[in-house]
Amino acid sequence: MSKLHTFMEKRSFALLVGILGVVSIGGMVEIAPLFYIDSTIEEVEGMRPYSPLELAGRDIYVREGCYTCHSQMIRPLRDEVERYGHYSLAAESMYDRPFQWGSKRTGPDLARVGGKYSDEWHVLHLENPQALVPASVMPPYKFLSETKLPTDRIAMHLKANQKLGVPYTDEMIEKAASDMKTQLDEFADDADGFIERYPKAVMREFDGDPDNLTEMDALVAYLQILGTLVDFSEYEAETNENQR
Ligand code: HEC
Repeated sequence: MSKLHTFMEKRSFALLVGILGVVSIGGMVEIAPLFYIDSTIEEVEGMRPYSPLELAGRDIYVREGCYTCHSQMIRPLRDEVERYGHYSLAAESMYDRPFQWGSKRTGPDLARVGGKYSDEWHVLHLENPQALVPASVMPPYKFLSETKLPTDRIAMHLKANQKLGVPYTDEMIEKAASDMKTQLDEFADDADGFIERYPKAVMREFDGDPDNLTEMDALVAYLQILGTLVDFSEYEAETNENQR
């Protein structure tokens, strides 16, 4: 046995310092690069901050605890990719504060539910899930259709997100309240400006009542955008190629 080994084995303090020294090498290798790179998330084309109406819908999603039954993260496992589509990328949650990945799956994953059903389906389903899926254990959220959505706080909400690094411009913040209403009407005066600010946003009267901005409108707007911003057609073509 070497002398150093004998020395270390007999002195627990020296051994402790030695252990900490060795362990910190691993720590340095992991932590040091974080100080030199701008972002740990690889960017992906198509991602944009939520429109004001979608952001309000996301808040309702969090408030109602939808995440206690639904995840928003498709794992790179064959059964999940075949059921839900391309696995989730970190960049797809880059403007989510906090992210809604989750791990509790009483219901299906919702990461790519946008466009899967019509607005009418979502409204009916949220008002009374058992009317569409008789065996469903999802609770009804009928009150969302009867609750008006206030527009006076949304600008502050965008501003708070801007402070956290979400790239909302001052124009977006200024127009936040009116943009909530514009999203319900594709023929609105500012429709072109709106879609320029929020590309691919779904502009529709979500719950079928154009004069009434409700929490249901916001939640359905949010559900309909989930997973639709990034174009995965190229990625899917590639995988098919490999499978052949
Ligand atoms: C108690 C658990 C539970 C909660 C809470 C819950 N859900 Fe569900 N959800 C389910 C189950 C189970 C299903 C599958 C059966 C069905 O479609 O109703 C489902 C289905 C869905 C679907 C259809 C998904 C698909 O791909 O077919 C959507 C959309 C949805 N839920 C949205 C929501 C939203 C939004 C909330 C919050 C307002 C919510 N859920 C709260 C359990 C839940």
